[in-house]
Amino acid sequence: MIKKSLHLFFSVALLFSQAAFSQDKKEPGAATEPVRLIRGPYLQVASSTGIQIRWRTDVSSRSKVRYGTAPGKLDQSVEDIKLLTEHKVNLAGLKPLTKYYYSIGGLKDTLQGDENNSFTTLPQPGEAGHYRIAALGDCGDNSINQRHVKEQLLKYLGPNELNAWILLGDNAYQDGTDSEFQSKFFNIYKNDLLKKYPVFPSPGNHDYHDTDLSAKHAQETHETAYYQNFSMPTEGESGGVPSHTQAFYSFDIGNIHFLSLDSYGKEQNAYRLYDTIGPQVQWIKRDLAANKNKGWVIAFWHHPPYTMGSHNSDEEEELVKIRENFIQIIERAGVDVVLNGHSHGYERSRLMMGHYGMEKTFDAKKYNLSSSSGKNDGSKDSKPYTKSLKKDKGTVYVLSGSAGKLGGKQASYPHDAMYFSDADHGGSCVLDVQDNKLELKWICADGVIRDQFTMMKELNKNVSKPD
Ligand SMILES: [Fe+2]
Repeated sequence: MIKKSLHLFFSVALLFSQAAFSQDKKEPGAATEPVRLIRGPYLQVASSTGIQIRWRTDVSSRSKVRYGTAPGKLDQSVEDIKLLTEHKVNLAGLKPLTKYYYSIGGLKDTLQGDENNSFTTLPQPGEAGHYRIAALGDCGDNSINQRHVKEQLLKYLGPNELNAWILLGDNAYQDGTDSEFQSKFFNIYKNDLLKKYPVFPSPGNHDYHDTDLSAKHAQETHETAYYQNFSMPTEGESGGVPSHTQAFYSFDIGNIHFLSLDSYGKEQNAYRLYDTIGPQVQWIKRDLAANKNKGWVIAFWHHPPYTMGSHNSDEEEELVKIRENFIQIIERAGVDVVLNGHSHGYERSRLMMGHYGMEKTFDAKKYNLSSSSGKNDGSKDSKPYTKSLKKDKGTVYVLSGSAGKLGGKQASYPHDAMYFSDADHGGSCVLDVQDNKLELKWICADGVIRDQFTMMKELNKNVSKPD
């Protein structure tokens, strides 16, 4: 038995080393040295009919993706004859919600491609179904916590798959440099999440290297590794109103509409997210108005309106301004869930609306639209939050910033607007959406689910009404 396992291990290891060390020298004009895969593959700009596969090689080489709907039958391909180290290959004309297997490499050789190289296209925009999306905040610090959070997320999923994962900012500490992205983000997630599930990022202050003197400049130019390392659906490729900028964008996963926002960078060298006359907010208003018919609307960005974790939302100017000036726009449009990071813990509100002041002005009776925990687990006051076509307002604010970094509490921790707060355990969130039912679970680094909530919605007259 042991002999057999060892044999299998060495066969797989041999296959892997052959795959990761390709000889592209037969191609005229291409690299004469062996080409090594040093980053990826990873999946970007996913939609119901297309995807972009990215990877990096150590020397310039050509690109080819072979793909097909069975692992041993990669009967279609797309190639690019340009000599590059940053490879970006777009696949188009795919079928919605269909599993594809793929390999990457040069025109003749394969760098990687086995039964673990697969992705599933997104569902048709607007179509209800059963979807799972993971959210990781403040993840890239190369800590034990980062690894445990990832392992427990994968364990929780078991045989179930994600449709996508989203990043809540501060994706590579300390300064969001390319080498930090390599060692603390791409290397950590390369064997599981990145090659299989499309990732939709948002930027945090560390992605603009805010500990560096050049931060001010980067806020204006957006010339940081974050923008070079990720491709975003800026032209409405995945649904939503085109934003024409990588800083913020929107996309659909079936009947869920997502907005990824930039709470740190500046637009036109002047406007932040909380400057509501700026181009980002103008686009947000247009996008929200155009997507009112979606079953669910979820917005995510880095800086939270309510936190007393490692950051203080009464004292940090940008958090105060986001709360005072910006979130009313989100609330007016009936956005169901807001996901943030920045503080390195987990803080979650009840269904609420209208609180834009300091913590001491929070009045639960006035601002909570439900006194339920939303836990839906049979405990006292745990009914799901409900929304109907007539009563469609209210937002649950979730801060989940401990997928890598962990800890920190202000003197007045926890924030009074937050029903549940925990800065002692790392974790990530999984959104599980089935037609008119949304569940969010906080999966901790030790595998324990310490918080969850359910929201039910009357989507249209054919959908069963919530209790
Ligand atoms: Fe941050």
